[in-house]
Amino acid sequence: MLSRLLDLHGIENVVLECKTRDYIQERVRAGVLEQGTVELLSEIGAGERLQREGLVHDGIELRFGGQGHHIDFRALTGRSITIYAQSEVIRDLIDLRLADQREILFEADVTSVHGLESTEPRVRYRHDGKDGELRCDFIAGCDGYHGVCRTSIPRGVLTEYERIYPFGWLGILAEAPPSSHELVYANHERGFALLSMRSPQLSRLYIQCNPEEDIGEWPDARVWEELHARLAARGWSLIEGPVIQKGVTGMRSYVVEPMQFGRLFLAGDAAHIVPPTGAKGLNLAVADVHMLARALKEFYSSGRRELLDRYSETCLRRVWKVQRFSWWMTSMLHRFESDNAFDRKRQLAELDYVVSSRAASQSLAENYVGLPIDD
Ligand code: PHB
Repeated sequence: MLSRLLDLHGIENVVLECKTRDYIQERVRAGVLEQGTVELLSEIGAGERLQREGLVHDGIELRFGGQGHHIDFRALTGRSITIYAQSEVIRDLIDLRLADQREILFEADVTSVHGLESTEPRVRYRHDGKDGELRCDFIAGCDGYHGVCRTSIPRGVLTEYERIYPFGWLGILAEAPPSSHELVYANHERGFALLSMRSPQLSRLYIQCNPEEDIGEWPDARVWEELHARLAARGWSLIEGPVIQKGVTGMRSYVVEPMQFGRLFLAGDAAHIVPPTGAKGLNLAVADVHMLARALKEFYSSGRRELLDRYSETCLRRVWKVQRFSWWMTSMLHRFESDNAFDRKRQLAELDYVVSSRAASQSLAENYVGLPIDD
């Protein structure tokens, strides 16, 4: 996304991708795009298949006490979300870059970054059995939580903020038509469950589980049984189908401050992680690179550094609001072992308040469809 934005501003850039093209195009990730993300993808010419195949949703359902409650995003905010898998976004962006004759080095292992405080930082990498070094003006660290960029910043510069949740999500992809026309987030005595989808033929479903869960103990029949129990609602039934993918995801909230050091700028999971409740990971990464592209455009067109200097500060305002929202959705919908009977009643009262108060449902809606980009 960043490389495309830079290309459009006439800024030369190189993409070093550590995985293979197939891996990143196939890897199952989340699938909810905020309206602002959809608009940006369309503006940069990556919206054609998205417009055709994306499923536009005008709301979500919160389910608890065996009853569903519709949160109407369109009525509350005038905006909507689009269901389109992250892997498809990646596929479209790769196609676009390669069609433009611009390179992506796949399976390029970045080994280290140097000279971050100089005007010519360097990236060392290994590709095709050969060592390479890139000399550049800036490095964008879009290399995820486990990448080398963040850890190359000298000790003492960064502050980390973290919360680890005592549960994970067991997710399946099933060849079954979605049992609901919109996403269903369920709070149940046995734990959280989510019904999502990828297409009119593919369902994506999750259940709260132990973070260390052994997937071997979850044959398909047990997963379905749990989904039936947790998603149960009067007059509604869950459609089953062959399970084609299954996996466990950990849940945590993480932020590093600042998101820049010298000429290195961190974006996406390299700087922050959100739990998946609310589906913000991809959208937040897009907001980061949108800001970074704007800042680099300002630098190259006028020599001014104001936006670059304020990159971290600008991004973090959004990051923390999105952290708050993802934490809040997670807290409201999951079962915590440490909760007593009071906490349980309070959680149900919170859900009841969210679905019955216009102010509270509007707050959920405006965060879910995506907060405006800060200037
Ligand atoms: C998904 O479809 O994978 C998904 C949807 C909503 C979430 C998280 C994941 O909050």
